[in-house]
Amino acid sequence: MKKIVVLISGRGSNFVAIEECALREDWEHTIGAKIVAVISNRPDAKGLELAKGYGIDALCVDHKAFETREAFEEKLYEVISQYSPDLIVLAGFMRILTAGFVDRFEGKILNIHPALLPSFKGLDTHQRAIDAGVRMAGTTVHFVTAALDGGAIIAQAAVPVLPSDDEHRLADRVLRYEHQIYARSVKACVTGRVRYENERAVMDDATALELTLFGQV
Ligand code: GRF
Repeated sequence: MKKIVVLISGRGSNFVAIEECALREDWEHTIGAKIVAVISNRPDAKGLELAKGYGIDALCVDHKAFETREAFEEKLYEVISQYSPDLIVLAGFMRILTAGFVDRFEGKILNIHPALLPSFKGLDTHQRAIDAGVRMAGTTVHFVTAALDGGAIIAQAAVPVLPSDDEHRLADRVLRYEHQIYARSVKACVTGRVRYENERAVMDDATALELTLFGQV
């Protein structure tokens, strides 16, 4: 069984989208994969309750309990390692991970970012997209490296920015696409259709097309 560990900090809607897809498509029996744990760096993350509701291990490693980023990461590494995960999925996990952590799971960590990378790395992506006057916003799933929002791109969805948008309306529209491309990307990675090789995301044309969305949903 391929084991997936999800890291969150908040509401956990991307986690839920992936878990719902896994249940709908019966990943356990069809591709031999399951989410085995959800870990939050914040004790009040709503996603932890949601994970419990699915019968999934829900744990907290509170970053505030540690003096240094390295000490937090050491504990996080220990907790994650208990599960021997094949894939670690960052889903709204709001802590920067250092090279010391990331390198120990090279090619096994995915993140979703609410912008069309390499544009708008970092925070406040929707407001910055509106301020820049772009017509297309979107979301990107990528492998995690020590470079913030900088690892190889796996999947993207392009979403129109409408004149009436504020950051909340745009965020809601982008989020619907996040849920779709993240579940598909996780599946493509655990089944080996997407691989991390020489710092690139390697896949065939059919997979790339399946992982690319644009337009309105
Ligand atoms: C998403 O917009 C994701 O792109 C960003 O944080 C948000 C998390 O939302 N990294 P949720 O916790 O999955 O609902």
